[in-house]
Amino acid sequence: MKIIVTKNYDDMSRKVANIIGAQVILKPESILGLATGSTPIGAYKELIASYNNGDLDFSKISTVNLDEYKGLTRDNDQSYYYFMNENLFKHVNIDISKTNVPDGTQTDAKQECENYNNIISNLGSIDMQLLGLGNNGHIGFNEPSDEFKTSTFCVDLAQSTIDSNARFFESIDDVPKQAYTMGIGNIMSASKVLVAVSGEAKADILKAVLTGPVTPQVPASILQFHPDVTFVVDEAAYSKM
Ligand code: GLP
Repeated sequence: MKIIVTKNYDDMSRKVANIIGAQVILKPESILGLATGSTPIGAYKELIASYNNGDLDFSKISTVNLDEYKGLTRDNDQSYYYFMNENLFKHVNIDISKTNVPDGTQTDAKQECENYNNIISNLGSIDMQLLGLGNNGHIGFNEPSDEFKTSTFCVDLAQSTIDSNARFFESIDDVPKQAYTMGIGNIMSASKVLVAVSGEAKADILKAVLTGPVTPQVPASILQFHPDVTFVVDEAAYSKM
């Protein structure tokens, strides 16, 4: 495990973008696993800037996102499909047909999980998976639980996640109660994992993830077992270490 401690959010964002950018340069046909949430927005801005400078070419890149709210249509501004378009895809030369986000409108959960697992396995292995960290230690939407899930599943969101994500919705009642998410097994199968963590509010959970027991009650703790994981954290997030 590598831990890179950065000065602040902007510094973290630049370093995350530099690592993803290096991956894109070294392997232009990379399969990137992408994340949503507020944390990666700065890194996506940096990637767009590098594209505009002529440093990055996304034309051969494929992407697969971690998760999507169940019940939100793609044009809903809180859907992760919409997020990815607004924050990255529409600003770079990525082939949108090579991007993948679970279909939140699919009501048949078994079918959608099977579809998404097929998409992931047909792509081959993910070269680099970007992750944020939920306040309760979740990655993707793998909430604290009694077991690690191997593949894509439909999850009942934890109340703490609903509360925390309510800030993006008009009211807490609008926050979906379920989501489709890659399982821990999908995430652990990525060749490289890159985790971005920012802010003092994540300091306690980051310490538990890095130094605590590996347990499905702190889903990100499983990353201690990943052979090539890099945490890029800012000083505030690292302050309890
Ligand atoms: C969301 C997403 C995660 C994200 C996390 C943290 O619910 N499903 O992929 O990493 O919560 O979000 P933020 O970066 O806004 O703290």
